[in-house]
Amino acid sequence: MQKKTIKEIIRPPKGMHDILPEEHRFYNAIYEKMDSIAEYYGFKQFQTPYLEHIEIFTSTLGETTDIVEKEMYTLKTKGKDHLVLRPEGTASIMRAYISNGMHTKPQPVMLSYKGSFFRHEKPQKGRFREFQQFGLEIIGEEKSFADALIIKIFSIMIEELGIEPFTVHVNSIGDKECRPAYRKELVAYYRKHLNYICKDCRSRIKTNPLRLLDCKEEKCQEVKKEAPQMMEFLCTGCQTHFKETLEMLDSFEVPYIIDHTLVRGLDYYTRTVFEILTDVKKGEEEDLSKLALCGGGRYDGLAKFLAKKDIPGVGGSFGIERIIKVMKERKVKLKPKKKPKLFFVQIGQAAKLKSIPMLEQFRKAGLAVGQSFGKGGLSDQLKLASKQKIPYAIILGQKEALEGTVIIRNMENYSQETVSADKIVDIIKKKIK
Ligand code: HAM
Repeated sequence: MQKKTIKEIIRPPKGMHDILPEEHRFYNAIYEKMDSIAEYYGFKQFQTPYLEHIEIFTSTLGETTDIVEKEMYTLKTKGKDHLVLRPEGTASIMRAYISNGMHTKPQPVMLSYKGSFFRHEKPQKGRFREFQQFGLEIIGEEKSFADALIIKIFSIMIEELGIEPFTVHVNSIGDKECRPAYRKELVAYYRKHLNYICKDCRSRIKTNPLRLLDCKEEKCQEVKKEAPQMMEFLCTGCQTHFKETLEMLDSFEVPYIIDHTLVRGLDYYTRTVFEILTDVKKGEEEDLSKLALCGGGRYDGLAKFLAKKDIPGVGGSFGIERIIKVMKERKVKLKPKKKPKLFFVQIGQAAKLKSIPMLEQFRKAGLAVGQSFGKGGLSDQLKLASKQKIPYAIILGQKEALEGTVIIRNMENYSQETVSADKIVDIIKKKIK
């Protein structure tokens, strides 16, 4: 193995990032918004471990999916467990639903989750090896209302984050009753056009025929256009489910397009699948076009391996880095931080010792206070206060610390008064009311 240089070692691994404070504000603002909307609609926050047994994913996502075939970060523990850094959340949530006996609770169980996921993909625009998702799952509900509700809530979230325009793409990929006949027809059709499709598609015919519809290669587009559509093969149950879902989306005023080529990259889906893609605004970089902000669908067969029976469910998840990318390019302003009305200045060792108990009094009284422990001198600290246009400075020097007093300085007219340290919170509260 080639030895890495220090420069290489101090960089995060490829496709992964440090999240600096400025960037963190975006994550917090997004999660705050999503959590509050999800909670309003009855979702409970939930967390699963970052590591899972490998079978949780190999048995549910599909052996021939990109994730299982080439993208999982796997490791063997000293105890010989074969674990995986979670590449997605739905299979883990279903595992946890089963292992925590949530099927015995009133159904459906509605859960929200967030955090990092890991896929060993080729890093490119909007595609990383560690990325964060916010997801929603409704488990134990087979009715189409749940499908429409999930899509509606995701649309609300995007609207409230101010990153329109976007388009909701929906499709139905049938279920175990009707999909095999469609798959057969699709394979027969593609076999007739082998000379006009790319190398990957030729192997998809054998391994994962539905993904033929997903191919973005120029060469395959003509063949794809004329390919048979799942819609014509849906059984009565799937047809009704899809029709109801669309009718509900109409009633919920969610505009959508039916996208016959939307199949999604994971095998556990049945019936409804959806993605929300960005549209470009006039004058924007093409870069923002058709970026998948969110994807999901119904997965009524996912639990079979884990529970030996079907447990219906539907859900989806947002890619947070992609949302941040759009927010930045569309110059969405974050809520400004609450500006403090007080700046705490401490000079000398005795004052430093008393500073934390005093700051605690302010915190408990709900007063936001600016301060700089790094700067020692009076004028440096006062400069910081006036730069931030903070109206009052509280000055605690050596003398004040010994006498149990503190100085209040009005930063606009520079007047000062010395007050008892015990009374400072009450006095200052009246001043900044
Ligand atoms: P997914 O489509 O693989 O679905 O991922 C959902 C979203 O995560 C994507 O639309 C995208 O925004 C983001 N995403 C995926 N991979 C990356 C990456 N490498 N870098 C940055 N962002 C990425 C799932 O993961 C399903 N578990 C969704 C679901 C929940 N289905 C039902 N419930």
